[in-house]
Amino acid sequence: MATDVRELVDSNQGVVSRRIFIEDEIYQQELERIFARCWLFLCHESQIPHPGDFFSTYMGEDPVLVTRDSNGKIGAFLNVCRHRGNRVCRADSGNASAFVCAYHGWTYGSDGRLIAVPSLKEAYYDELDTSKWGLMPVAQIESYKGLVFATFDASAPPLREYLGEMTWYLDCFFDRREGGVEVFQGMHKSVVPCNWKLPVENFGGDNYHVPWTHLSALRSGFISVSRQKEAQGGAFQGRMVASGTGHSIICRGGDLANESVIPEVQAYEDEVRAEIRERLGPRLDMVQPIVGSIFPNFSFIRASTTQEFRVWQPRGPGKVEIWSCAFTDKSAHQHIKTIYRRTAQRTFGPAGSFEQDDMDNWEECTHTARGPMSRRIPVNNQMGMGRETFNEDLMAWANDIPVSEHTHRSFYGHWAKVMSAETWDYIPLPPRIP
Ligand code: FES
Ligand SMILES: [Fe+2]
Repeated sequence: MATDVRELVDSNQGVVSRRIFIEDEIYQQELERIFARCWLFLCHESQIPHPGDFFSTYMGEDPVLVTRDSNGKIGAFLNVCRHRGNRVCRADSGNASAFVCAYHGWTYGSDGRLIAVPSLKEAYYDELDTSKWGLMPVAQIESYKGLVFATFDASAPPLREYLGEMTWYLDCFFDRREGGVEVFQGMHKSVVPCNWKLPVENFGGDNYHVPWTHLSALRSGFISVSRQKEAQGGAFQGRMVASGTGHSIICRGGDLANESVIPEVQAYEDEVRAEIRERLGPRLDMVQPIVGSIFPNFSFIRASTTQEFRVWQPRGPGKVEIWSCAFTDKSAHQHIKTIYRRTAQRTFGPAGSFEQDDMDNWEECTHTARGPMSRRIPVNNQMGMGRETFNEDLMAWANDIPVSEHTHRSFYGHWAKVMSAETWDYIPLPPRIP
């Protein structure tokens, strides 16, 4: 029997019960109703460019193997042996013509078919129907501008409907120039003892913490001059944007998103500004997206010193694995790519100067909820209550300064709807330009 979480989230009052960050029963419901139903980000196509390439990831707590078969077709399968449930592929990524289970040697092709079973003739008397025991495929898999998503739910709406007009906001990160982006090889993985929703809401809408949490990084000159002025009490320019269905984006105004403290990056941004404006259209004059989250657990950032995306892999109510990749415009100059590869490590990587600031706060926001008295104190998401309106030009809910918690109210409101809905008929989809 599912917990009725609607009483735990009151978006009209801007409060959320902290039980949702700590209770295992609620977490199990999240795995079933959110991670086994929603479209989840798997990887970027540039991470598996050649036939035979594969990438190991997770959808919620389910291990998933993403493959590009010999015909170049991308597929995704539960990375679980159909014999006794062993995890088949243990490598993070690579190129392979087949995947051999370490336990008894059942072997699967990159298209998921079971292609070899040791002692099939002698031990199984040739009676095992191998055509029925291939790796279990996901229900749907689709790409948007190189971003590969999948869902375990055959009844989920198509990816484009799930993303709605958020596709334009994704373009601002992943398709600014012809050819889109390329992801640098390798990734950072780190474990943080916090609930997975805290980093998602942070990337999707917490501009408020930047001048405070990251003050030391700001003072070290990691952030542009206008950001430093904001930190000193200057005017904020920008907006917070939410689809109303859990996706949300922090946007700056004017051309502030393209200010860089690195002269070479500033020169590159100046060089490509007109081309990008032409490609992305006049909405870019209203908002410059810099950080965002797609529901439930995919986030991305395009700051003056780094371009990265994250998957927040849930590992129980009190733990998250952060999987972080850096990327760059595919058509950027080589020296710009090198700068972005290096700055990604200095800023938001686990050894960078921003991530530690954040994770310490997320950890304690989770840990205090373990106490029965502390747990009774709800989270306050009341900033800018009622100041957001639906903006037809942005095709999203928006306010008019880049600090507000309407994005948080939207995220948790949608979370409660997905957690309560028996079927997709009861889960709202984002607005789209007709
Ligand atoms: S569990 Fe995989 S071959 Fe037995
Ligand atoms: Fe932060």
